[in-house]
Amino acid sequence: MPCNVVVLISGSGSNLQALIDSCTHDDNPARIRAVISNRADAYGLQRAQQAGIATRVLDHKHYDGREAFDAALIEAIDAHQPDLVVLAGFMRILSPGFVKHYSGRLINIHPSLLPRHKGLHTHQRALEAGDTEHGCSVHFVTEELDGGPLVVQAVLPVLADDTAERLASRVHQQEHRIYPLAVRWFAAGRLRLGAQGAMLDGQPLPASGHVIRT
Ligand code: GRF
Repeated sequence: MPCNVVVLISGSGSNLQALIDSCTHDDNPARIRAVISNRADAYGLQRAQQAGIATRVLDHKHYDGREAFDAALIEAIDAHQPDLVVLAGFMRILSPGFVKHYSGRLINIHPSLLPRHKGLHTHQRALEAGDTEHGCSVHFVTEELDGGPLVVQAVLPVLADDTAERLASRVHQQEHRIYPLAVRWFAAGRLRLGAQGAMLDGQPLPASGHVIRT
């Protein structure tokens, strides 16, 4: 059975591209049915169009508040009957009602080793904190911002001569590896959100999620 996926973006969409590429493999049950952006100029929209995927722009500035925007967003997403909604650089805080509506079928990628460095400017903050390791995390989305149960993390060493840009670029490469992996697990029915947290193949994942070291 194919797994209907809707991807939400706001920008470049390099993670979206990694997902598009991984869906070209015959054994991947994930099917990206639509890409929705809150910004008309998001480059990821072009990536989707080039791959023949339906796109839609919903500009949050045209709505009277977060609740109204999120209600419209739910309608646009649900038109594609999603099994999974993937946040790929979608720069909006989602209302509790939205998160609840997609409970267990909403995932996000964050450029840090959560729970460290929630929020923005994660690479700079990892350097400033003197972290020896940094990376990225895929997690189920719950009402706590950047706080839901972890699915998979890629861990990489911080190098002595790292700048925020260099670190960001290495982390991004790993994002492109772990996000397709997580989506594939979900699409294959291997990954789900249980009452106690993320489960893979019927077993609870550790609090850090599945860890990949590079
Ligand atoms: C990524 O760093 C992701 O972790 C964060 O937003 C960024 C999106 O990048 N949530 P891209 O648009 O996929 O290139």
